Amino acid sequence: MLDLSGKNALVTGIANNRSIAWGIAQQLHKAGANIGVNYLPDEKDRYKKKVEELVAPLNPSLIVPCNVQEDDQVQAMFAAVQEQWGRLDILIHCLAFAGKDELSGEFSQTTRQGFMTALEISTFSLTQLAAAAKPLMTEGGSIITLTYLGGVKVIPNYNVMGVAKAGLECSVRYLASEMGPHNIRVNAISAGPIRTLASSAVGGILDMIHHVEETAPLRRTVTQTEVGNTAAFLSSDLASGITGQTIYVDAGYEIMGM
Ligand SMILES: NC(=O)c1ccc[n+]([C@@H]2O[C@H](COP(=O)([O-])OP(=O)(O)OC[C@H]3O[C@@H](n4cnc5c(N)ncnc54)[C@H](O)[C@@H]3O)[C@@H](O)[C@H]2O)c1
Repeated sequence: MLDLSGKNALVTGIANNRSIAWGIAQQLHKAGANIGVNYLPDEKDRYKKKVEELVAPLNPSLIVPCNVQEDDQVQAMFAAVQEQWGRLDILIHCLAFAGKDELSGEFSQTTRQGFMTALEISTFSLTQLAAAAKPLMTEGGSIITLTYLGGVKVIPNYNVMGVAKAGLECSVRYLASEMGPHNIRVNAISAGPIRTLASSAVGGILDMIHHVEETAPLRRTVTQTEVGNTAAFLSSDLASGITGQTIYVDAGYEIMGM
């Protein structure tokens, strides 16, 4: 029943085989979607080769560099989508960044620059990419971003990233309200803690994972594949009535009070 064949999906945020975006790209491909991805460019193009090799089995029809801090790169990414696909159906926003110094210690010590960088890359970029995607989603669409419980409750060391995720979840609601009349749905998946490049910057991430394994109703944390399956569902017509929501894929941890 879950069929994404004929749909064009742009998946952002693959860095390596642990990335949540990689789990999502695989499940969208399995459901039949045509896949495009970005990689974060740098002077040595460290990610380019890694991402190209990783995604090769999915036969991506688009692999583009894009740093969301560079407007011209964002424009070029969507120009490539328009040129090669003509239409976009699915946008996966699966990227975030905060400096390591901001992800441990006292929240009150967050610097102005650290705050601005975290919110620019992790929060504003959703609105930035959604604005560029909107005119290409001519037959409706699904935009999905990744958030974490630290945007709703206090999680030790998550600090400024919690503020960024709160803003991200709020952005989802405003974008969903604006884009609903165009049949574009916007949702967030709140994933349980998973070991990735980004999460390893958060102080005490392993303790967080162990705590979830002891406390969550399912007595474990989740996998990239489970998040990918939910993203595939939200991308599909099976979820045609769902927009503006934050869906928890966290082995149930969010419901626990103690
Ligand atoms: N891992 C977890 O425990 C967890 C839990 C809930 C939510 N999330 C969220 O999932 C998303 C993906 O993170 P992940 O855990 O898979 O880690 P990851 O390190 O694999 O992915 C983060 C991605 O962000 C990209 N990125 C960073 N700065 C960028 C920029 N300026 N322009 C473009 N791309 C940039 C990186 O290249 C990388 O691909 C993030 O939004 C993260 O907050 C992660």
